[in-house]
Amino acid sequence: MPQVSERTKLLGTETAFDVLKEVEELTRRGKSVMNFCIGQPDFDTPEYIKEGAIKAIKAGKTGYTPSPGIPELREAVAQFFSKTRDIDVKPEWVVVACGAKPFIGYTILSVTDPGVGHEVIYPNPGFPIYESLIRAYGAVPVPLPVLEAKNFSIDVDYLEKLINERTRLIILNSPHNPTGGALDKDTLEQIADIVKRHENIWVFSDEVYSSMVYEGKFVSIASIDGMQERTIIVDGVSKTYAMTGWRIGFATNPKLAPYLARWVTNTDSCAPHPNQYAALTALTGPQDDSKRMIERFRLRRDLIVDGLNKIEGVRCIKPKGAFYVWPNVTEACKIVGAKDSEEFRKRLLYEAGVAILSDIHFGHKNEGEGEHVRFSYAASEENIKEGLRRLKAFIEENRV
Ligand SMILES: Cc1ncc(COP(=O)(O)O)c(C=O)c1O
Repeated sequence: MPQVSERTKLLGTETAFDVLKEVEELTRRGKSVMNFCIGQPDFDTPEYIKEGAIKAIKAGKTGYTPSPGIPELREAVAQFFSKTRDIDVKPEWVVVACGAKPFIGYTILSVTDPGVGHEVIYPNPGFPIYESLIRAYGAVPVPLPVLEAKNFSIDVDYLEKLINERTRLIILNSPHNPTGGALDKDTLEQIADIVKRHENIWVFSDEVYSSMVYEGKFVSIASIDGMQERTIIVDGVSKTYAMTGWRIGFATNPKLAPYLARWVTNTDSCAPHPNQYAALTALTGPQDDSKRMIERFRLRRDLIVDGLNKIEGVRCIKPKGAFYVWPNVTEACKIVGAKDSEEFRKRLLYEAGVAILSDIHFGHKNEGEGEHVRFSYAASEENIKEGLRRLKAFIEENRV
């Protein structure tokens, strides 16, 4: 029998999809489930963006495009990056792909070689695809703790200790999935100081939640002096414009852009042509719909954080960005006799009809940090209130 490659066996996954299967199964059996697993806006793509795509289709924009994207979109993205990151980005430094996600792999492939011990530092807890792809592409994953004790930021001295002559790439993600933490300018400057002392280190800055910052202003590490040339900035339309299924993301780096484009040629050829026009419409059209959606997220953040902090055994820092909260449920686990956050999550789903993810879905537990779960508050206010009510009742009724 032909065998599956070892590399493929190493692939991790977004275990959120496994939980979603459980949720679907329960819903099919007639159980009411409040779903807080999903990492996408619960809003529909704004009409004017859909019209942009329809117009493009009708005008015959349905063939292949250049691998780095249609010139109009690269120009618009260059302007978007320049304005929002306060840097000068040229259109030829921009590459468009099928979402922000493919750039994770393209970047690892572009700056590390397999099997020679090249190390990639990545946030833990974090988006699970980082670790999965680092491993599958033959590099060595080195987790960098994101800590509740540091207000969902990182310990810069610890980061420095992780760096050695084999380090090739540091992945940053701010605002952060799953904690909602955001790195402030001071922390980014300290990271930049360290990185600049090491000639061989690139930074992959995953900024897909850049538009969702509720405290202060979004800051990119690329805005810091001397960092633009070593930073691959990645953003996209998925979260900001409720366009997850359209699969358009973009990246910029002056030196790596041609290599990233070469990876696009070797994989998808190009991002879907009409969808590139939809993204162009999103970036260049009125921003009111997106702003309204983000304002709703801010209200929901306040609602869910206040509600969680009123529940016995639950402690929740108010996150600065994205649409996730990462409450500490160590005490709640003890109250209901759950051995860890994963058992807590399972029981909450099956016994109380509340779907969330636990810390094991986002990497390894950090010592001394306790048990955490993730709620995505990309859910209606009504469902948030009902979810909180069920969580409170679950804890009160299951005291051991
Ligand atoms: C941190 C992070 N990066 C990237 C992505 C993927 O974004 P896209 O839909 O643009 O591929 C996600 C989606 O959940 C994410 O949370």
